[in-house]
Amino acid sequence: MADTATQSQGGAGENRSPDLHYCEGQAQLQLGGGFFRPQSRPSRDLGVLLARTLPQPLEVLDLMAGCGIRGLRYGLEAGAHGVWVNDGDGDRLPLLQANLAPLAQAGCRVEATALSAQKLLAGCLLEERRFGLVDLDAFGCPTTLVPAALEALQFGGVLYLASTDGRSPTGHDRAAALRSLGAAARAHPASWELALRLQIAVVARAAWALGRGVRPLFSFSEGRTFRVALQLQRRADPQQERLLGLLAHCHGCGEQFSQSLWQLRQWPACACGAAAPPLAISGPLWLGPLQHGPTLEAMADVGASASPQEVAPASVRLLRRLLADPGVPERCWPLAELGRRLGGGPPPSDALLAALRVEGFTALRSGVMEGCFRCNAPWSRVLELAAALNR
Ligand SMILES: C[S@@+](CC[C@H](N)C(=O)[O-])C[C@H]1O[C@@H](n2cnc3c(N)ncnc32)[C@H](O)[C@@H]1O
Ligand SMILES: [Zn+2]
Repeated sequence: MADTATQSQGGAGENRSPDLHYCEGQAQLQLGGGFFRPQSRPSRDLGVLLARTLPQPLEVLDLMAGCGIRGLRYGLEAGAHGVWVNDGDGDRLPLLQANLAPLAQAGCRVEATALSAQKLLAGCLLEERRFGLVDLDAFGCPTTLVPAALEALQFGGVLYLASTDGRSPTGHDRAAALRSLGAAARAHPASWELALRLQIAVVARAAWALGRGVRPLFSFSEGRTFRVALQLQRRADPQQERLLGLLAHCHGCGEQFSQSLWQLRQWPACACGAAAPPLAISGPLWLGPLQHGPTLEAMADVGASASPQEVAPASVRLLRRLLADPGVPERCWPLAELGRRLGGGPPPSDALLAALRVEGFTALRSGVMEGCFRCNAPWSRVLELAAALNR
């Protein structure tokens, strides 16, 4: 089965025929006239691979289902035992019911509803219904739904969360960031990563407030949607709270500093001197790992025998990139910034990373932002090594 449609696939806001027939993985369905983006396929492929690694019998809640493609794929490809598919737009319910019909034949129990996510989650709390996977593919910022979505998870269950609010967490709307994330968000050279760390911090704080912990399993973005999958822990790992902190950026020279809120101190003076502008400080945000290697390895294992029709090549590439970079240390820069500051273009990236490692630093290509690298070396040393390589 190919990732194809019999007519133009269309995307958000495009004119698309409601009768469009679309195939992705093992799913064949009608897209209807509502929101659908074929380009988001890697996020759906990763969701299916993740679901295949979760314990059975797996119960899935697809809270903002659109045409129902995620729920359908969780049932058909991950062998979910039960799938509850919901979209707040009541006009989509007949489409959801029709699209999900193949699940009953596959032995998967299906519920389809048209409730607001808030109402649905309140009902789950009252009925003490819990799921192994809650997929929350939201429009905008999902912060208000996070505590209730966590309450709807079994211990060890996963919240797969999307936010399309790119302005607040990337420093473009500081007031909105304070309102929706409870955090300062300043312009930062690795802005997608900053957005993911702010999002994870929101979930971590909500989990801690419930007496639980969280483990980020994977985090990624293409600059438009910010996606994180987090596992709910019955108890937080020891000292997990120390991973909440602040990230500071010197716009004068490019240096970055981080601090845990656990031991908040004065910021060090930046090496670029007294003329340096005040540090741009973002947070509280998550300073810990963005990816969980064992989970990504398990996902890669279950996907290893999949055909390109089942798991798209772009999804395999994304998985490999995430596997190669746990997301720590948290200081991350574009190579282009190095080039700009040196005036001679970016240095050869492999050689720079190798030179940093020879000196005992951790230095990695970012799995989240192409063309970026992370390291724990002083920025002045990074600049020296890069300048030497450019000579
Ligand atoms: C990003 S789209 C979902 C796309 C779908 N998951 C996919 O992969 O194609 C978000 C959906 O959430 C629905 N929605 C928006 N706000 C909602 C709410 N408060 N409760 C339930 N559904 C909501 C919209 O009708 C829309 O179909
Ligand atoms: Zn500086």
